[in-house]
Amino acid sequence: MNRIYMDNAATSFPKPECVYRGVDFFNRYMGGNPGRGSSLTVLKSGSVLHETREALAELFNISDSARIAFALNVTEAINIGLKGILNPGDHVITTSMEHNSVARPLYVLSSARGVEWTAVPCSPLDGSLDPEELRKAIRPHTRMICMLHASNVTGTIMPLTQVGDIARENGILFMVDAAQTAGVLEVDVVRQNIDIMAFTGHKGLLGPQGTGGIYVKPGLYIKPLKEGGTGSASESLIQPDFMPDMYESGTQNTPGIAGLLAGVNFIKETGLAKIHAHEQALTRMLLEGLQEMKKVRVYGPQNTSRRTAVVPFNIQGLDCGEVSFILDNEYGITTRSGLHCAPLAHETLKTKALGACRLSPGFFSTEMEVMEVIKAIAAIYRRQRT
Ligand code: ALA
Repeated sequence: MNRIYMDNAATSFPKPECVYRGVDFFNRYMGGNPGRGSSLTVLKSGSVLHETREALAELFNISDSARIAFALNVTEAINIGLKGILNPGDHVITTSMEHNSVARPLYVLSSARGVEWTAVPCSPLDGSLDPEELRKAIRPHTRMICMLHASNVTGTIMPLTQVGDIARENGILFMVDAAQTAGVLEVDVVRQNIDIMAFTGHKGLLGPQGTGGIYVKPGLYIKPLKEGGTGSASESLIQPDFMPDMYESGTQNTPGIAGLLAGVNFIKETGLAKIHAHEQALTRMLLEGLQEMKKVRVYGPQNTSRRTAVVPFNIQGLDCGEVSFILDNEYGITTRSGLHCAPLAHETLKTKALGACRLSPGFFSTEMEVMEVIKAIAAIYRRQRT
């Protein structure tokens, strides 16, 4: 049985061939710990970090690549942004569609550290946000708006540019969680007025797991989450206060970052528009295929221009975990069921008790595979009806 991978919202798979080669080449022929000494080997591996920062800066329209620090993943980056900025008495606004990577740090900050948190309700129909509702939530002490670019549950694309404008008009910091969009949709920190942007390397950027980072706008100081060796200012016990070193304590995942560089270069050569168009076409096929089945409920916007390649669904009368299990076990189709680490989003959609089975095709998914997926779901559906 040929396996079909429909879980790119969790992590993209497969990776472009150049990504595998990039990791392997680093491990096999480069080595060296960036910034730790000045041998040729060390300098060469340091150049991998530099080149990757430059490639990411170009992708996100960041003028100074040193404003990007690498992190283990988007969750670590979000934790730096939230915990390094918000103090007791500060107010923060999010949407009600946030992932636990935002919601859990904010739960700690709001329940135990005196931060006030408003989650603006999104539409229960499709998870969309009305920017005017968000504007109404602003208070005199609002310090930050933090929100995802697109939902990992419904794919709903959020009105980033409008919210960026609202943040700027009101002198509020704007932090974006680009976990589901970096490498698929345009993220432009200038045009979208983004002050802080957290991204992961292993989803749309097509890199390995264990890569990601944070962009911090020039002039903004965020307290680091951890201290340690950075290979710079080693005579001092005080953590460096300059980027990117201040957030990059300890040896970086340089082999992973070498793979990430290859992924970003692959995206640039292919073009965001081509990647997005392919994923949109597959999403449209899935939506149309599932719409044929009366007892299948699909969540998220109907229009594919308003969503990323994420299609959650439920078959009436069947547990989503069971559906995911049957797809995996009998049809070789990988999906993700449950709450997708986003209970707030499921609460918004009124699916917290049910969860959903999520299909997320990627750039390497094919129309043929999507047809197989629709056929498999139709078979499970028919079984349920008889
Ligand atoms: N946040 C990832 C997902 O949606 C892991 O599956």
